[in-house]
Amino acid sequence: MKTLTIRRPDDWHVHFRDGEMLRAVASDTSADFARAIIMPNLVPPVVTTADAASYRERIVAAVPPGHHFTPLMTLYLTEGTDAGDVEAGFRSGLVTAVKLYPAGATTNSQSGVRDIDKVMPVLERMAEIGMTLCVHGEVTDPSIDIFDREAVFIERVLQPLRARLPELRIVMEHVTTKDGVDYVRSQDRNTAATLTTHHLIINRNAILAGGIRPHYYCLPVAKREEHRLALRGAATSGDARFFLGTDSAPHLDPLKECACGCAGIYSSVNTLSCLAHVFEEEGALDKLEAFTSLNGPTFYRLAPNEARVTLERHETPWDYPRKRATAEGDVTVFDPMFPLHWTVA
Ligand code: NCD
Ligand code: ZN
Repeated sequence: MKTLTIRRPDDWHVHFRDGEMLRAVASDTSADFARAIIMPNLVPPVVTTADAASYRERIVAAVPPGHHFTPLMTLYLTEGTDAGDVEAGFRSGLVTAVKLYPAGATTNSQSGVRDIDKVMPVLERMAEIGMTLCVHGEVTDPSIDIFDREAVFIERVLQPLRARLPELRIVMEHVTTKDGVDYVRSQDRNTAATLTTHHLIINRNAILAGGIRPHYYCLPVAKREEHRLALRGAATSGDARFFLGTDSAPHLDPLKECACGCAGIYSSVNTLSCLAHVFEEEGALDKLEAFTSLNGPTFYRLAPNEARVTLERHETPWDYPRKRATAEGDVTVFDPMFPLHWTVA
């Protein structure tokens, strides 16, 4: 049997939700990942350090005993966010990053930012103290085609922000386009990007060709094949500016399978199996560890995990669970549409 031993991975972008959903999904991440950046888009959002402290406790209580897992907390940036609170949260070690959602860009982003000028004092403070800003990089202008919203965001928001604050550490979350990859490659410091597992696997045909498939709908929406290939190139290159953020985002099935379904793909269950397949296909298994376990900690100025995991390639594909059951109903697990020969030992 072929095996691959790597440092234990981290997930640099995941949605844990709260309540019953949190209790159902936390162990899928903590089983395979040592740490994860926890997105703050709850209802209501995690805005203050005090909110993050209590959310962190609920997460820790939801992780099974025996799993070694550290949640890395983020604050949801609003136009009312207090720079002093952000700094105190960061200095205490409780808060790792701040998340910028343009208002209306995605699930639970209504309290996000409309006018970037209003959050400049917070961003300036973050630049001073070396704290990372995680960015949902899509404009919300309804006149911009949804497939172009990432490229236009780079031009209208990111480039001007970068010019104003060269020292701000920015992660472009879940880049989905060649434009995003090229932008990150053009920056020699303070800029990185997360890539999801599913955007390395699907293009927009998965959502729209031969029937509408809501379980492949997420934001930013999957793009054309040329973009998927650019993302694969970035992920498997070993370039330290690119690392894994699964953006695993559970929604109950009835909320996805309806006339106006929620955005989000749930992949925590089988992400590492999918990634091993992708990296093997690209002849880049030797770059998997950089993507899942080294580049993220380097950007966040944390040590990589000491623990190791072994991935095993089996002849018989893994019959992974198709649904994650919760007390409120089922969540469909990401189907990569190829057999999964790799598993975590
Ligand atoms: C995320 C969610 O459901 O919270 N959905 C998604 O499609 N990725 C929000 C987000 O990260 O945009
Ligand atoms: Zn997300």
